[in-house]
Amino acid sequence: MSSVATIHVALGERSYDVVVGSGLVADAGRHLKPVLARPAVAIVTDANVAKLHLPALQAALTRDGIAVAATVVLPPGEATKDVPYLMQVLDELLAARIERTDTVLALGGGVIGDLTGFAASVLRRGVAVAQIPTSLLAQVDASIGGKTGIDTRFGKNLIGTFHQPRIVLADVGVLGTLPQRELLAGYAEVVKYGLLGDARFFDWLETNGASVMQGDAAARTYAVLASARMKAEIVAGDERESGRRALLNLGHTFGHALEAELGYDNRLLHGEAVACGMVMAFDLSVRMGLCPAPDAERVRRHLRAVGLPAGLPGEAPDGGWNPRRLLEHMRQDKKVSGGTLTFILVRGIGKSFVSREVTEADVLSVLDSVLLAA
Ligand code: GLY
Repeated sequence: MSSVATIHVALGERSYDVVVGSGLVADAGRHLKPVLARPAVAIVTDANVAKLHLPALQAALTRDGIAVAATVVLPPGEATKDVPYLMQVLDELLAARIERTDTVLALGGGVIGDLTGFAASVLRRGVAVAQIPTSLLAQVDASIGGKTGIDTRFGKNLIGTFHQPRIVLADVGVLGTLPQRELLAGYAEVVKYGLLGDARFFDWLETNGASVMQGDAAARTYAVLASARMKAEIVAGDERESGRRALLNLGHTFGHALEAELGYDNRLLHGEAVACGMVMAFDLSVRMGLCPAPDAERVRRHLRAVGLPAGLPGEAPDGGWNPRRLLEHMRQDKKVSGGTLTFILVRGIGKSFVSREVTEADVLSVLDSVLLAA
């Protein structure tokens, strides 16, 4: 029998467990039952995930006497995090008479988790949501911590809520069905935890990252568990991101600018952008005299070794990369406050901090040197 571990997210009356292990989808009813106010749920998923995992989830719920009042299947992809699909979910849940005591299950990656969490948070002024993340990125990051939202033409996740789930079931067994590129993109967020606060975990990843990627079950479980534990601990200490939670944005200011420049399309996945962004955050920290250069080199080497981009993405926008345009995107970032850019910088691997001291000249010089090296 495979092992299952539980991490507690301690948030008072909004506390919940993150369960990590293999076979959790097929055993979902048993894990969900104790947290359901009544045994009735709706499932929101996407067409790709539905094909792979919906029958197993439905069978598991039926076996444990949990009624499925509605199943909403949306198109896969980031474009689904938009108003028409939000309205479709709300409409179908209302048509199925989902009540305040029912629970909505989000079965899918970050898009489904964020959209479903948002829909649940506004439906009848808030119904419960349970997250069943099926991508590595969602298992280690998006499903934990209660951030929900949809995208707008001004940027990603600009409309949303905090709505903590009742439980997170991270079934590492389902990662076997992910395309390699998506798995790698999720792996960037795993690396992020080592870089932002746990140098020993980064050491472990340098040795075991290849096994995680190749499907070694024990290595995958350990990587998801260590990441989820760190996320749970950070969220418990700073639910609304007034302090330490911001460290989870390591690499994201640069990364979002790269994504925005490529129009958030399939040429650059979020995790790939974060990988590039983390390297730039290390380069920036080295340039500002905060971080030893060999640490930045180690980060680059590890990301490249597993197959992630480490600097600039493989694809460039029409007309090539332009540092000033990237800076312009950063000025639109959610973390801009009073016109000042916020960056997560590092004093070395595992030692991150929030900085408002970064000048635009520093940012431009890092972008210029990354461009030169490309
Ligand atoms: N994904 C970043 C956070 O949850 O704060």
